[in-house]
Amino acid sequence: MTSRVSFASLTPHNLGTLRKLNSVLFPISYSDRFYTDILKPEVDDFCKLVYYNDVPVGTICCRIEDKDNEHRLYLMTMGVLAPYRSRGIGSQAIEQIIDAARSHTQTKINKIYLHVQISNVEAKKFYEKHGFKEVGVHENYYKKIVPRDAWIMELVNEQ
Ligand code: ACO
Repeated sequence: MTSRVSFASLTPHNLGTLRKLNSVLFPISYSDRFYTDILKPEVDDFCKLVYYNDVPVGTICCRIEDKDNEHRLYLMTMGVLAPYRSRGIGSQAIEQIIDAARSHTQTKINKIYLHVQISNVEAKKFYEKHGFKEVGVHENYYKKIVPRDAWIMELVNEQ
C-alpha cells in the first residue's frame, strides 16, 4: 500500500495554508521575515507542507546556519494538527528532513538542532525516538510564553 503521507515544497501559492496551520499549531506568531526566508530555494529540502490523504495537516520548517566552520540545520517549527497525531505523520516528516540533511550535497550539514519548551515532554520524547539528544537548557529562550526555558536537542550527522 502506498504511503498516505506526502510533502509539498513551499510556494507563494501555498504559503497561506502554512501560515494558517502554524497559527493553530504554535503559541507563537512568526514574523514576515520567517515566511520570506522559508521560500528561499536553498531551504527547499527542509521546509515542507505535510499532507495526509491530500489534506494539509502539518508543517516542518528549518533554516541553515553557518557557525564556526560548521553548517547546522536549525529546526524552527514542526507540528501536526491534533486529530492527526500518533499516526506516524510526524515521524515521516522528521525522517524526511534527516535524510535530506544527510544527502545534502551543496554543503555538509554537521548537525540538526532545535528548541523544545520544557513543558513539552511529549515532543521531547518524539525527538529522542528519532535520535536527538538533550544537550542543554536555554534559559529565558521564550519571551512571550511560559515556561520560558527550552531544552536544546541535537542530532549529529555522522556521515
Ligand atoms: N499527541 C500524540 N503524540 C505526541 C504528542 C501529542 N500531542 N506530542 C508528542 N507526541 C509523541 C509521542 O511520543 C508519540 O508516541 P506514541 O504515538 O507512541 O504515543 C509520538 O510523538 C507520535 O509520533 P508520530 O505519530 O510520528 O508523530 P505525530 O504525527 O504525532 O507528530 C509532533 C509529533 C509533531 C510532536 C506532534 O505531536 C505535534 O504537532 N505536537 C504539537 C506541536 C509541537 O509540540 N511541536 C514541536 C515543538 S518543538 C519545535 O517545533 C522545534
